[in-house]
Amino acid sequence: MNIILIGFMGSGKSAVGRQLAHARQVAYFDTDDLVEAAAGQKITEIFAAKGEAYFRELEAEVLQKFFFPKDFVLATGGGIVLRPANVERLKQLGSVVLLWAEVETIYQRIKEEKQRPLLNVPDPQAELRRILEVRRPLYWQAADLVVETTGKEIPQIVQEILAALPTIKG
Ligand code: S3P
Repeated sequence: MNIILIGFMGSGKSAVGRQLAHARQVAYFDTDDLVEAAAGQKITEIFAAKGEAYFRELEAEVLQKFFFPKDFVLATGGGIVLRPANVERLKQLGSVVLLWAEVETIYQRIKEEKQRPLLNVPDPQAELRRILEVRRPLYWQAADLVVETTGKEIPQIVQEILAALPTIKG
């Protein structure tokens, strides 16, 4: 069963995804890496040079066209759920697991980081809240399984997902 991780920036998708792939001995992919490879540019450079709309096009294209192997774990960019066609594709690819945390937790995790173009604004916390409210229903509708991550270390989250796998669709 392939596992697709969705969730907001700072929800732990990449770290959890790598450990999950390792535990299951399968390949690991991240849509942000696939976009960077396709564009030959870092995400921050893509946003700076061509803007968010262009990035969303690339992200959608990569997701549709990339040839995934038989078994894998896929971490996704936080905005992947914005397009219904992306969500449909993710559901075809595997079981969709939402890593959930509330705004305060996420803000504490990512406030020191500078490579999040969407949060390079005067009031990042308010922006985070605004974006999360728009996306909240999209994340929850897309998810086959929701894992609350607040106060948990990565290995614990990985264990919870592994334990829940037999109970979710696949
Ligand atoms: C984005 C999240 C980022 C990256 C891009 C846009 C978003 O990925 O795709 O900066 O819209 O939430 P992470 O969720 O891996 O940080």
